[in-house]
Amino acid sequence: MRPLIVKLGGSVITDKRRPFVVKRAALRRLARELAAAKGPLVIVHGGGSFGHPVASKYGIAEGYKNKNQLMGLSLTHRAMERLNANVIEALQKAGLPAIAVQPSACVVVSGGRIQSMELAPVKKLLELGLIPVLYGDAVPDISRGMSILSGDQIVAYLAGELKASRVILGVDVDGVHMANPKKDKSAILIRKITPADEELIASLGAAEEKDVTGGMENKVRELLALANRGVEAEIVNATKPGVLKRAVQGERGLGTVVVGR
Ligand code: IPE
Repeated sequence: MRPLIVKLGGSVITDKRRPFVVKRAALRRLARELAAAKGPLVIVHGGGSFGHPVASKYGIAEGYKNKNQLMGLSLTHRAMERLNANVIEALQKAGLPAIAVQPSACVVVSGGRIQSMELAPVKKLLELGLIPVLYGDAVPDISRGMSILSGDQIVAYLAGELKASRVILGVDVDGVHMANPKKDKSAILIRKITPADEELIASLGAAEEKDVTGGMENKVRELLALANRGVEAEIVNATKPGVLKRAVQGERGLGTVVVGR
């Protein structure tokens, strides 16, 4: 059973400029587009304006430093649960039997990296025909107390462990660009990235404002590690109606493809 794994980026399903605002119409549309997928499906979503502002206010991604952060972790997680409830409901309305899987309760993280994850429930859910939905989360970290675990890292980990058929990351730009496409309309879209493109990848970080989990450079790095394990991935624009649908139906080349050597 090789599932398709799809991530809905936080900026696709939330309004990044307004804290705790869901882009309801976009989420409804994306749920319908995801319903076009055939076969087993795992969905992961990001934090957008639910997770990031709270996580950054309390410095959760920097590890445990003071007691204040305990409430910060609690609030960040709760914000993510609220966003997750919106995602689950939208998927259910589109006829998809979605079920939340809480990352902070089943993932062991050290130094911000996943060490292990209890996968038996996820595998059983998939086998039954359900759609596990995970999300970027504030998590306990065995070496530094607490961390923010990005949805991207969860996607890459799950895809490797579950031997995903393919990974699709839905973002709010057309893919990976040579410059920041939000500032520079003429920024060139990169159609394909392989592990040989190290110089290019290193230059991506400079082009953007970073969120607490590191933006496009990190995304590409997670996907390249995965490509080396034999799983191909594509970053597509999920804000353009129909694109995610075509991608989950198997179309390639809609955005930036990340493949192994
Ligand atoms: C971040 O997850 C989760 C929290 C801040 C708690 P992601 O890093 O995957 O979120 P987006 O997609 O960039 O918003």
